[in-house]
Amino acid sequence: MSSHQQSANKITVRKLLQMKTAEEKIVCLTAYDVSFATLLDDAGVDVVLVGDSLGMVIQGLENTLPVTMDDMVYHSRCVARGLKRSLLMVDMPFMSHITPQVALQNAGRLMKESGAQIVKLEGGSEQREVVMALTSNGIPVCAHLGLQPQRVHKLGGYRVQGREADVAERMLTEAGILEQAGADVLLLECVPAELATKITKAVSIPVIGIGAGAGVDGQILVLQDILGITPGRAPKFSKDFMAGADSIQAAIQHYIAAVKAKSFPQQEHIF
Ligand code: KIV
Repeated sequence: MSSHQQSANKITVRKLLQMKTAEEKIVCLTAYDVSFATLLDDAGVDVVLVGDSLGMVIQGLENTLPVTMDDMVYHSRCVARGLKRSLLMVDMPFMSHITPQVALQNAGRLMKESGAQIVKLEGGSEQREVVMALTSNGIPVCAHLGLQPQRVHKLGGYRVQGREADVAERMLTEAGILEQAGADVLLLECVPAELATKITKAVSIPVIGIGAGAGVDGQILVLQDILGITPGRAPKFSKDFMAGADSIQAAIQHYIAAVKAKSFPQQEHIF
């Protein structure tokens, strides 16, 4: 294989767009180490996210705010070593993209030092210039709307976003602004299913949902949630795929099959 070739089945941002057009559901999961990354890649997960949720599920923190760029680089490097086919998406942690210049430096680090193939950042239209700076410099971006856990203190808790008509209208507008700015993918977290479906139809980029219903182009969950090992009460939108599975590999396969067949999420998982 020449240095310009990559395996024909490698997932790219272009392929995600083709999947949206073909109405083939995009399956995503988080991972934070090479062992699970290898399992997810072998099983056929399309996008593996090194989320800043690692602050909670790996580091035992109360929220994602203390997660650092060094944490993200370290875990992404570990995950990258396990991936051949899946696209590696990496979260930009809290305060790592406060200006286009800061964002370029930090996203550049994720691409150069950890093998990220797309970065994800929380925020709405105030991120327009950041998204423009990154994408015009060759860094693919997934914009994250709806519940933004890095704003937990401002929001006063982890709540569904977009129930009120004015907030829903603003989210729809912001999705368009971020698409126009060059975002390659949009992620919607904890958004009423009807609104998420409306946004998915309004934009031409792929929309991945978590707690956003079945009308989006793909689903993502936190790995620990689908394996039923999240301490405390699991979020309403997640499902324990270990129940009835005889191995971790089987649970991951059940999740992939359920998303592809559109049998997950069900009514009980949506807002
Ligand atoms: O940090 C994370 O794992 C995420 C997912 C919940 C989408 O942002």
